[in-house]
This record gives sequence, C-alpha cells and structure tokens, in this order.
Amino acid sequence: DEPATPVRVSTGRLADGEQVQRLLTEAYERYALVHEGRVADYIPLLAQASPDLFGLAVVSVDGDIFTAGDADYEFSIQSVSKPFVFALVAEALGHAAAREKIGVNNTGLPFNSVMAIELNDDRTANPMVNAGAIATTSLIPGDTADAKWQFIQQGLSRFAGRELQLDGEVYASETASNRRNQGIAKLLAGYDRMYFEPLEATDVYTRQCSLNVTVTDLAVMSATLADGGINPITQQRVVSADTCKRVLAVLATAGLYEHSGEWLYDIGLPAKSGVSGGIMTAAPGKGGLATFSPPLDSAGNSVRGRRATTMLSDVLGLNLF
Ligand code: DON
Repeated sequence: DEPATPVRVSTGRLADGEQVQRLLTEAYERYALVHEGRVADYIPLLAQASPDLFGLAVVSVDGDIFTAGDADYEFSIQSVSKPFVFALVAEALGHAAAREKIGVNNTGLPFNSVMAIELNDDRTANPMVNAGAIATTSLIPGDTADAKWQFIQQGLSRFAGRELQLDGEVYASETASNRRNQGIAKLLAGYDRMYFEPLEATDVYTRQCSLNVTVTDLAVMSATLADGGINPITQQRVVSADTCKRVLAVLATAGLYEHSGEWLYDIGLPAKSGVSGGIMTAAPGKGGLATFSPPLDSAGNSVRGRRATTMLSDVLGLNLF
C-alpha cells in the first residue's frame, strides 16, 4: 500500500482543509476497492451488516469536519466505547486508582481471552479488552445498574456532542449470546477484581457496546481526546487533559489488541477498534480520524479502516514519531 502522496513528517498542525478533504476522498476511492476480511458473526445481528459500507471522517481540534463515503450511517459502537468509559472512570477515581484496579499493560492475546486473566496474576491487564472493560464499567459511579448506565450514556454523549441512543436490536442480540462475557465477569468476581454485581456489570457493558454512532461521531469523540478533553464542536470540557493523556497511553499500548504493536509501528498513533467495523484514531493536538467498514481481520480490526488509516497517517503527517 504505497501512499498516494509523499510521506510527510509530523508537524504541529493538521494540514489545510482542502488537502485533508482531497486526501480523505482519495483514501475512500482507493480502499473501497478492497474486498478482504469477514464481517463479525459471533453477535448474530452484526452478521447482517453490508460488507460494502465504508465511511471516513476527520475532525480537527478547531472543529472543522471532513467526511467521505457512508459518514452518516449509524452502527453500534462496540469496543470503541471502552476508552471513553475508561476516561470517565479515570476522571472519577483518579488515574492512579484506575491503573491499580484495572491495569495498563497489553495482553498479547485476543480481546475476549480468559487465559489473559489467569496469566496476569488473576488480574485484568487493561481496560481495552473485554475483562478489563467490564471491570471498568463496574467502577462507573452509581449505586444501581441503571444509574451507571445513565452515567455512561450521558458521558459518551458529551464526547460525541449529541445524545447517543441505544440500538435495542443489537443489545438484545448480544444479550442472548453473552455467556462468555458473563463467565469472564464471574471469574473476576471470584478474584475480587469485579467492583459491582458481575451479571449486572456485564449487562451495562453490553448496553454501552450497543450505543449507536456514526463515523463522524467517532471522529468528534477522538478529537475530544486529541484536544485535551474539550469537545471541539460543543467547546464543552468533557474530561481533564490528564485523563486524556492516560487514555491515549493505554490506546497506544492496547487499542488494537494483539496487533497493537504492529499498528503503532505502521501508523504511530493511539487508536481503538470495534467488531462492528469502527476504528477511531487520535492525533494529539491535531484532531481525530475515524473509519467505519464492517469486514474485519483475524484480530477483529476493520481491514479497510486499517489501510485507510495507514495511508492518511502518512500523507497527513500525523505519526507521532
Ligand atoms: O463484548 C464484546 O464481545 C463486544 N460487545 C465488543 C467486542 C469488540 O468490539 C472487540 N473489537 N474488536
């Protein structure tokens, strides 16, 4: 995948708007032609997604929005919710307590691994894999599952700058096929590493994964992390700059599961993928880039999304290193 225009070194600002739009359109046209990967089917409803869907969005820290392809199509956020829920917990508990309770190291293993818990001294490794994410959800402020859910829905909506809604069909579909996550939550409870009733925490986690977003929402959400916690569209502070710094560090370490090292090597930016086909990437101080396309590689990362992000990181000079 040779970049369409020469690789630039990272600069302090995003390229000018006309160039960003041109390169985004070019990435769309180029990678729409790729037909590799498989749409996730372990959550039955996700299997119905069209493999042809493909959308791209960039949002600058100045609040400029650029899109290409299926930018308004709504899909369930899935694992891309994890960094934002972790941000809410780090903000509420402080980053030191969040690290002590959840961990911040990579597992090197698949996102739903049970062995990763056993190999890590009976602790969760990080908030970006299912075990650590369900434990993170269990730490969200609120005495009841409903209070925690409200906190998450409102918090993620502040990141997006609009009220995000639950996709009831995805939620029902995942709830009916959720034994593995329930098992992980109960195992963690056995090790005193779950901080709320495990089945209720898993249910709230399943709801958070079923929130509907567009690829443009994901770009706004990542631009908020890139902007030190201020949503560039609403100008509202969502979390502190310190929280953003910690979340971006965990994303660089573990955002792409067992492919996180390769991602950082090729793309050089913190990012998070989800099984519905979304990937959000943050370029600190510059903005957020997001891609959506359902066909996934073997680790559960969108194939077109990864290729388009690789190209755009190069041609826009986003790579941190
Ligand atoms: O818990 C699950 O399995 C899904 N709700 C989310 C997993 C996911 O998105 C992993 N991503 N690559």
